[in-house]
Amino acid sequence: MMNLFLTRAARVSSLTKHNAVAAFNSSRCVHSLPLAATVEAEEISGAKPAEVLNLVQGKWIGSSNWNTILDPLNGEPFIKVAEVEESGIQPFVESLSSCPKHGLHNPFKAPERYLMYGDITTKAAHMLSLPKVTDFFARLIQRVSPKSYQQAFSEVYVTQKFLENFCGDQVRFLARSFSVPGNHLGQQSHGFRWPYGPVAIITPFNFPLEIPVLQLMGALYMGNKPVLKVDSKVSIVMEQMLRLLHSCGLPVEDVDFINCDGKTMNKLLLEANPRMTLFTGSSRVAEKLADDLKGRVKLEDAGFDWKILGPDVHQEDYVAWVCDQDAYACSGQKCSAQSLLIMHENWSKTSLVSKLKELAERRKLADLTIGPVLTFTTDALLEHTKNLLEIPGSKLLFGGQPLEDHTIPQIYGAIKPTAVYVPLEEIMKDNKNYELVTKEIFGPFQVVTDYKDHQLPIVLEALEKMHAHLTAAVVSNDPLFLQEVIGKSVNGTTYAGLRARTTGAPQNHWFGPAGDPRGAGIGTPEAIKLVWSCHREVIYDYGPVSKDWEIPPST
Ligand SMILES: NC(=O)c1ccc[n+]([C@@H]2O[C@H](COP(=O)([O-])OP(=O)(O)OC[C@H]3O[C@@H](n4cnc5c(N)ncnc54)[C@H](O)[C@@H]3O)[C@@H](O)[C@H]2O)c1
Repeated sequence: MMNLFLTRAARVSSLTKHNAVAAFNSSRCVHSLPLAATVEAEEISGAKPAEVLNLVQGKWIGSSNWNTILDPLNGEPFIKVAEVEESGIQPFVESLSSCPKHGLHNPFKAPERYLMYGDITTKAAHMLSLPKVTDFFARLIQRVSPKSYQQAFSEVYVTQKFLENFCGDQVRFLARSFSVPGNHLGQQSHGFRWPYGPVAIITPFNFPLEIPVLQLMGALYMGNKPVLKVDSKVSIVMEQMLRLLHSCGLPVEDVDFINCDGKTMNKLLLEANPRMTLFTGSSRVAEKLADDLKGRVKLEDAGFDWKILGPDVHQEDYVAWVCDQDAYACSGQKCSAQSLLIMHENWSKTSLVSKLKELAERRKLADLTIGPVLTFTTDALLEHTKNLLEIPGSKLLFGGQPLEDHTIPQIYGAIKPTAVYVPLEEIMKDNKNYELVTKEIFGPFQVVTDYKDHQLPIVLEALEKMHAHLTAAVVSNDPLFLQEVIGKSVNGTTYAGLRARTTGAPQNHWFGPAGDPRGAGIGTPEAIKLVWSCHREVIYDYGPVSKDWEIPPST
């Protein structure tokens, strides 16, 4: 069956089904790839720039305004993104407004669409599992959000496994309802998962495929019509994925895709008035949107993620390796990256830090195990390091220098994996130090500290004061220690045990912050239901009314 999607015949047949898109694809299709791709990841260059379009009301459209993206590895202008300006948002406003609040489908309307999404997902999961397609997306991700091949591959793999989880009837099972017997014959209450209708999805640069696909599919499964905006630096990946989804049967009118700056997106949200907006990105923008949209948001915002090493020391090499991966894989640009390592003094006495240093120093630009930082410049990263080193008792454990021999443009950052030790007492001495130490640095950077047994309450107080509660790791096999730390902290995705990590959340883990009623989740059926549907109760009350019923006195 899947060969259907690999052949020219399939592309021709899809012409009749999804006219506008297929016609566009057929004129730009890169035929060596087994999907409706319009670019070759390796060939995008200053001499041969790729173009990224917008999709609205079922049509791919350009713009008179092209935003040129620089290759993060050599500064060449290599991608041209057709960015919609404020004056051009009307078609997007109209498209979103065309969707009623009760959505494109719900348990009482077009239920066959649940099945259709099961089928689309089955096909997309298969497509993404084809080695050529996996490789295409991994390499495309590497071009725009540089990370090692293994990290980019994992992003595609998690996305593919997520799709496998929602094949067949799994989409309709997401909308499973329940009922409770009523007070009298004929009465029964039913709880339904209801869509919001018109919705918006805004996603950042660091996971160009995984975050938008998982949220987009969740929104669609539950019956919503989303407008999707991905950071323009990386939106080429999602543009190509949408073409793949169209080739798998996604109706072209179901999703709009807009490239624009934050200000334009903000205006679009205010004018189109989506019933729900899922925002993934910085806390600064998250708070602004929460205000502007009067709370109709779900947020996946900043991560300042901590790892505590408990008093029981085992498997030093393994723990050092996990620390290195957590802090420096993807050059520290995962929202789940380890920002603060809190070691029990028993660990300080081991060679953990020197092992961590050795592992960090293995990383090299050549294979992108370390690479450009897209939201901080080198100067800003080094300035932050310098400020931390002014705290009494702090010291540079390793790094703290720019990368050498590279062509990364100056608008981006390029530093060696860095760790700065700051004493716990100094972290907690005053708000100035605390704020500085707990500032999220979205790069290959971490703060390390240590504590003695009697200082555990101070560590817990440090956790309590934090604003972001995304991921955490408690590395210990001591159940009483785990109980104490988990019981007195709130992070939404917390790993506990000797092998605990802060990063790597696959599709089978809930991923998201806790402790905030606006907090979103991603990945699991529970996350989809929470973010993309609300509860609706329908109480059936058919009767009969008993024969001897009489009008009672007023109450
Ligand atoms: N919690 C999570 O799951 C998660 C996942 C990935 C990244 N992050 C966080 O994202 C941040 C890094 O990403 P970033 O720097 O690209 O974030 P960002 O907030 O600058 O941008 C995120 C997205 O919001 C858009 N945007 C900016 N201003 C806007 C506005 N006023 N209205 C609407 N949209 C607007 C951007 O164009 C981009 O697409 C880090 O803080 C990281 O922790 C969180």
